[in-house]
Amino acid sequence: MLRVDVLTLFPEMIVQAVGHSMLKRAQEKGLLTVQVHNLRDYTLDRHKVADDVPYGGGAGMVMKAEPILRAVDALRGQARTDGDEIRLLFPSPQGRPFTQDQARTLAAERRRIVILCGHYEGVDERVREALQPEEVSVGDYVLTGGELPALILIDAATRLVPGVLGDPESVVEESFSDSLLEYPHYTRPAEVRGMTVPEVLLSGHHEAIRLWRRKQALRRTYVWRPDLIRDRSLSSEDQRLLNEIISEGVSSTPVRCGEEG
Ligand code: ADE
Repeated sequence: MLRVDVLTLFPEMIVQAVGHSMLKRAQEKGLLTVQVHNLRDYTLDRHKVADDVPYGGGAGMVMKAEPILRAVDALRGQARTDGDEIRLLFPSPQGRPFTQDQARTLAAERRRIVILCGHYEGVDERVREALQPEEVSVGDYVLTGGELPALILIDAATRLVPGVLGDPESVVEESFSDSLLEYPHYTRPAEVRGMTVPEVLLSGHHEAIRLWRRKQALRRTYVWRPDLIRDRSLSSEDQRLLNEIISEGVSSTPVRCGEEG
C-alpha cells in the first residue's frame, strides 16, 4: 500500500490525472492513496498569497517558504500521530535522475511519500535549508512545475506495487526491469494495411516465440540503447543471440520515431 501526499498550487492537475486508468484502479483496490493539498490553504494572509517577487530583483515569482513549511509540518504531525514517518521528495531539474530502481524503492516505501511541487521561478531557498528534501529530476529539460514530475513518480511506483497490474509477469518481463528494451507486440488482426505479424508469433511454438522475443529485445537495445548492453553481463544465450544479430547486420532494424535514418 502506497500512501502519497502531494503539496501543490494546482491540485486539479493531480486529482484529474490520478482519477483514471491504473492509478484509479489502484486506489479502488486499496493499494494506493493519493491526498492532494493546496498550498494556498497554508498561507497566513487574507489573500492567500503563496508567491512573491524575488529579493534582488529579476523576472518571475518565487514560492514563499512559510506556507510550504507549515504544510509539511502538518503532514509530519499527522503521520507521527499515526505512528508513521514521511519521505519528502521535491521534483527539480537539479535533482538526482529518477530511474526504475528508484521507482522500485518508492513502490516498497513504508513511509508516507510527500511530494512538494514547486512552480514559477523557484522556491524560497529556506525550504531546502529547513526540510532538506530529496530532489528528483525526471529528465534534463525544464518543466513549468513539479506536478507532471510528481505524477511520473506516482505512476512509475504504483505500477510496481504488487497487485496493481493484473499479470505479475508483465512487470518482470518488461523493458528496463532487466535493462533491455521491449520486444515488439502485435494483436489482431493478422494483417493491417498489408503489414503482417511475424510468422513465429502465430506458430504456437512457445520456445521459438520466447527466443524470437529475446532476440528482438536484444536487437532493439543494441541499436537504440547500446549503453544498456555495455553495462551488463550477458547470459550465454543472450551472447549467442547478440552474435547472430551482429553477424546479420542491424541495418534492417526500423528507425526510431523522430530519428532520421
Ligand atoms: N521541475 C521542472 N523541471 C523538472 C524536471 N526536469 N524534473 C523534475 N522536476 C522539474
